[in-house]
Amino acid sequence: MTEPATNVYIAGVGAYTPERVVTNEDFEKTLDTSDEWITQRTGIKERHYVADGQVTSDMAFEASKKALKAASLEPADIDLIVVATATPDMVFPSTACLTQAKLGAADAVCFDIVAGCTGFLYALVTASQFVKQGTARNALVIGAEILTRFTDMTDRTSCVLFGDGAGAVVLKPCGPERGIIRSLLGADGTLARLLDMPAGGSKMPPSHETVDQRLHVITMQGRKVYVNAVKAMGDSIVKVIEDAGFQGSDLDILFPHQANIRIIQSVAERAGLPMEKVFVNIQKYGNTSAASIPIALAEAVEAGRVDEGMLVGMVAFGAGFTWGAALIRW
Ligand code: COA
Repeated sequence: MTEPATNVYIAGVGAYTPERVVTNEDFEKTLDTSDEWITQRTGIKERHYVADGQVTSDMAFEASKKALKAASLEPADIDLIVVATATPDMVFPSTACLTQAKLGAADAVCFDIVAGCTGFLYALVTASQFVKQGTARNALVIGAEILTRFTDMTDRTSCVLFGDGAGAVVLKPCGPERGIIRSLLGADGTLARLLDMPAGGSKMPPSHETVDQRLHVITMQGRKVYVNAVKAMGDSIVKVIEDAGFQGSDLDILFPHQANIRIIQSVAERAGLPMEKVFVNIQKYGNTSAASIPIALAEAVEAGRVDEGMLVGMVAFGAGFTWGAALIRW
């Protein structure tokens, strides 16, 4: 336990995406679909898939190493690891513990957060409370997902959407001049059934029947998810901006969860932001769920699109349903 912090900032960012690239044309060979449909309806051109044997904590480990390097820290400096994932290595132990072991971050408290595609923002906000309170000084927040192991590759309405990857950030205490200004999280569990993986938990443990009935894959009512995502992401980003006393035009860059280019465009319009201020990489990675915002952040930082002093927004929506937004002075 150290002194409480005035604020919390992102001191380093890193990402990892697996080598194998699957294009829309690859799907044309196995499904009744087309590059034109996928591009027009989603904005996705390709996505990355893990190799056989590669697990979620492997990607979390790779992304974390880069984030630690960027923050000039060693694994031994980390006292908290939070992994946002809906696709953990196993039901238990947590992927955070498995990542800790790979990193050799012996002094870290470790746990996972499940909030679907909003997972990174839930983890960021949670970990920042530890740093603010002084319970942790250097926190590693990771979003890591292997959605493609839980995707029905014969279902054209969902399988073209998802990709694998991981992103990580290091949180550190700071003064009032920078850091997380405002955040908002929300959930509505009454709509859980619209986006879920029915079997594999205590409700429906794995059995021959659950496998035969293909219940260990993502099931989604895409249209309803879409409508809810547009509304919740739009409401959330507008609210954090207004609550912090800003206007949409004050934002320098927005990192929306990368699920569908049309959702992103609607959210930008709602927030009053031109698309030039919205970071988009969905064409390369598809929807990587909890990994999408930190992967985007890492790319943007590397490309020099995020500078100290900038007002940075993040917004996401996912299974649960869950949603969230954050405003950061970089
Ligand atoms: N290729 C070709 N046609 C496809 C297709 C594909 N990959 N997927 C669906 N279609 C067809 C449908 O079968 C339907 O055909 P029909 O009219 O003959 O029945 C038609 O396209 C329209 O389907 P619809 O579901 O209304 O399309 P849409 O414009 O809503 O786009 C999604 C579908 C899934 C891309 C869109 O709803 C979406 O992005 N939803 C959110 C998903 C999401 O983000 N999930 C994760 C949560 S963060």
